[in-house]
Amino acid sequence: MIDKVYCADVRPDMEGKRVKLAGWVYRKREVGKKVFIVLRDSSGVVQTVFKREASEEAYAEAKKVGIESSVIIEGTVKADPRAPGGAEVQADKMEIVQNVDFFPITKDASDEFLLDVRHLHLHSPKVSSIMKVKGTMMAAAREWLLQNGWYEVFPPILVTGAVEGGSTLFKLKYFDRTAYLSQSAQLYLEAAIFGLEKVWSLTPSFRAEKSRTRRHLTEFWHLELEAAWMDLNDILKVEEELVSYMVQRTLELRRKDVETFRKDLKTLRNTVPPFPRISYDEAIEILQSKGVEIEWGEDMGADEERILTQEFESPFFVYGYPKHIKAFYMKEDPEDPRKVLAADMLAPEGYGEVIGGSQREDSYEKLVQRILEEGMDPKDYEWYLDLRKYGSVPHSGFGLGLERLVAWVLKLDHVRWATLFPRTPSRLYP
Ligand code: 4AD
Repeated sequence: MIDKVYCADVRPDMEGKRVKLAGWVYRKREVGKKVFIVLRDSSGVVQTVFKREASEEAYAEAKKVGIESSVIIEGTVKADPRAPGGAEVQADKMEIVQNVDFFPITKDASDEFLLDVRHLHLHSPKVSSIMKVKGTMMAAAREWLLQNGWYEVFPPILVTGAVEGGSTLFKLKYFDRTAYLSQSAQLYLEAAIFGLEKVWSLTPSFRAEKSRTRRHLTEFWHLELEAAWMDLNDILKVEEELVSYMVQRTLELRRKDVETFRKDLKTLRNTVPPFPRISYDEAIEILQSKGVEIEWGEDMGADEERILTQEFESPFFVYGYPKHIKAFYMKEDPEDPRKVLAADMLAPEGYGEVIGGSQREDSYEKLVQRILEEGMDPKDYEWYLDLRKYGSVPHSGFGLGLERLVAWVLKLDHVRWATLFPRTPSRLYP
C-alpha cells in the first residue's frame, strides 16, 4: 500500500508540504514549458504542474503520459486560487505505473457505448459519485434500522416459487429439479418475524421483465422490511421515517455528490414525515381530470404515475388499490373486499413507484383462495401457508428498490446508471 495523500485532501493550508499522490490522469494540457495534469483518485481531483526547470525527467514523463494512465506523482503543495480546491501540487517526480496511449471513452460517447464498456466507464468521477451516494443511502438505512430495533436476516436467492407473479421468474436447473431466482425475500421475511418480530434484508432480486423502461432492471437491489403486529398505517410510518432518514443523511454526508446531478434540492429537503397520502380512487380521479383515459380497476403504469407526481413536491403514498391488480399475499380490506390494504410510495419529479408495501393476508382460507385465483398451486406454498396456522399475527412489510430511489435522488434518466453493472434484457455483459 502506497503511503499517499488523497487528491481531495490537498488544501491551501498545506502550502510548502511535500506530498505523494497516486491515481489516474484525468485531464492534461501543455502551456509553454509546463504540463498541467489534473490527477483523479477515489476522493476527487487535484491539479499538478510539471515545470521543466523543476525536473527535466518528471517533465518528460508528464509530456508523454496519456489520459487515464495510472501514475504516482510527488511534489510540493502551493496555494493557488485558480486551481480547483484552491491548491495545486508543483510536481518534481513522476512514475508512470501504466501508460495508456488511447482511452476508448471519449467525450461524445453514446449511452449504449458507455454501457458496452461499463468496466472502463467506472473510471468516471460521475459514476463514482453515484456509487458513493448509493452506498451512503444504504449505510444510512442500516443506521436507522439498527437504531430502531430491526434485525438483519439473510434469505435465500434460490427458491421454488413466485412472489410477484410467475411471468417474471427466471428459471434454472437445480440438479434434477427446477428452481428460480428470487423475486423478493418477502415470504422468507414473513417466516422470520415469528422469532424476530422486526426483520429486514438487502438482497439482489430478479425479474425476467422484458419491459424496456427507464425503471426496470432484471436484477436489482431490494431492501425489504417485515414486521409482526403492524398494520398498514404502522408500516407506512416506518417507510416514511426510513426514506426520510436515508435522504436527509445522504444530503448531510454527500451533498457535493448530489449537487453534481441536481441543483434543486427542494423535493429532497421536503422528504420528511408525514408524506402526503392519497387513495387509489383519488389518484384515478386526478388522472381522469387531466384527460388520462383510465378507469377504476386499471393498474397505473409509469406514464400515469408520472402525471400523478406533478401534484406533489415530495414522495407520497397511494393506498387502497383494487385487489385484482395486486399480489396474492395482500390483506383484503375488511371495509371493501374489492380492495387490499396496500400502498405504494411514489417519488416526485416524474419518477413514480419506489416502494411497494402492504398488510399481509393473515386468514388461511383467504390466502388459499387468492393463491388459487392466481392460478397457482397451494401445494407449492405449503410452508408459507403454515405461517397462518401456527401463531399467526397481523403483520405488514414492504420492498424498496434501491436503484429507483437513487435514480430519483440524483435525477438520473434511467435506473441502469444507479447500478455497477446493469442487467437488462439486452445486457448481461460486461
Ligand atoms: O412492488 P414489488 O414487486 O414488491 C415486492 O416485491 C414485494 N414482495 C416487496 C415486499 O413487500 N417485501 O417490488 C418492490 C420494489 C418496487 O417498488 C421497485 O422499487 C423495486 O422493488 N422493483 C424494481 N426495481 C428495478 N427493476 C425492477 N424490475 C423492479 N421491480 C421492482
